[in-house]
Amino acid sequence: MKILMLGSGGREHALVRKLKESSKVDEIICAPGNGGISCDAKCFPVSVMDKEGIIELAKQENVDLVFVAPDDPLAAGMVDALQAAGIRAFGPNAAAARIEGSKVFSKNLMKKYGIPTAEYEVFDDPTKALSYIQAKGEYPTVIKADGLALGKGVIIAESEEQARAAVSDIMESKVFGESGNKVVVEEFLTGPEVSVLAFTDGKTVVPMVSSMDHKRAHDGDKGLNTGGMGTISPNPHYTDELSLECMKTIFEPTIKAMASEGCPFKGCLYFGLMMTPKGPKVIEYNARFGDPEAQVVLPRLRTPLIDVVEAVIDERLSDINIEWDDGACACVIIASGGYPEKYEKGFEISGLDDNGQAEDVTVYHSGTVKKDGKFLTNGGRVLGVTARGENLDKALETAYKAVDSISFSGAFHRSDIGRR
Ligand code: AMP
Ligand code: GLY
Repeated sequence: MKILMLGSGGREHALVRKLKESSKVDEIICAPGNGGISCDAKCFPVSVMDKEGIIELAKQENVDLVFVAPDDPLAAGMVDALQAAGIRAFGPNAAAARIEGSKVFSKNLMKKYGIPTAEYEVFDDPTKALSYIQAKGEYPTVIKADGLALGKGVIIAESEEQARAAVSDIMESKVFGESGNKVVVEEFLTGPEVSVLAFTDGKTVVPMVSSMDHKRAHDGDKGLNTGGMGTISPNPHYTDELSLECMKTIFEPTIKAMASEGCPFKGCLYFGLMMTPKGPKVIEYNARFGDPEAQVVLPRLRTPLIDVVEAVIDERLSDINIEWDDGACACVIIASGGYPEKYEKGFEISGLDDNGQAEDVTVYHSGTVKKDGKFLTNGGRVLGVTARGENLDKALETAYKAVDSISFSGAFHRSDIGRR
């Protein structure tokens, strides 16, 4: 088989590497890819949002399957377009991808089908949103832009003043563009957060091993929210008992709800959960693999990924058995100084071999380019240094040892991944 991977981050690098392990896969190409991915797959400079360009590339390169990894092209209907052109694709169609692309859609879905989540109200008028927040008078309160906002559309307001600023930024200044036409105002929940990715063919749902993201930029969960500064798998807070409860109250009901709404979800569905004192609740859904969750979950998958991908597409997920490695996996992100705000690019990275790798670990590239044999920084999150181990401590020790051997100007990382 020949596969075209869409995307350019560490998640896509992890997917490419995992797919390559299967003897069924002869070749993988990627658009647009990055410096690290280019060592594993030929990269083509076509945007993931360019439907015609991607269809043309898929046809010209004679690929058997296109894997759509990022949220934007999924929400924009890339899978629908590929299918209409007769090309097999992995990922939800646009109707199903609304589960991530619209918080109003996902909150209403959960309310209608009794799936546990934070209490909420939806507003399209900033004055009404603020009156509601003032009348409630409970802080912190959570304000979310309806649409996609690069993982930054959630504001936790500690006071009325902060709430006023958040509503104004999102709905009036439109800092997240059209994504802020509506807002969800919701109850602040507490408890450990757990990420569970799941394969689903629209009928059957098979959760993968759990993971934990670290969203804040700095140690001790300080600083701004980012795309994710590091992950571990499994998540120590996610007991077998909780996983059974989530299957019964969240995973299966969500799959059934999407089918009942006429938009069965096929692909990887990401459940962002909080283990509250009142039981597990959904914080958010994503219509795709998480980044950097994919980097710690996929290395533990023992079953060839391509077999699972094909079972999802052909709606026969219930027929296959998916196996996982025991032990643990940890990923530490090395980021550019200033991320998630302003940062510079183009610094040379030292400590990597010709394939962009380092000893004892796998280095998934998030934001790099390869120029004249050298790897240069090219994004906010630059590298995901990933190690497996028989337990979490060993995995973390190996990952951090390699992190210390890699450097570039302005590089920073969190030193407390997995220590929460
Ligand atoms: P999201 O982009 O929806 O994952 O939100 C980003 C982060 O905001 C989550 O990982 C949580 O840490 C936090 N968050 C979102 N919603 C809530 C909530 N209702 N209560 C407490 N924290 C929340
Ligand atoms: N790491 C969180 C996400 O991929 O949305």
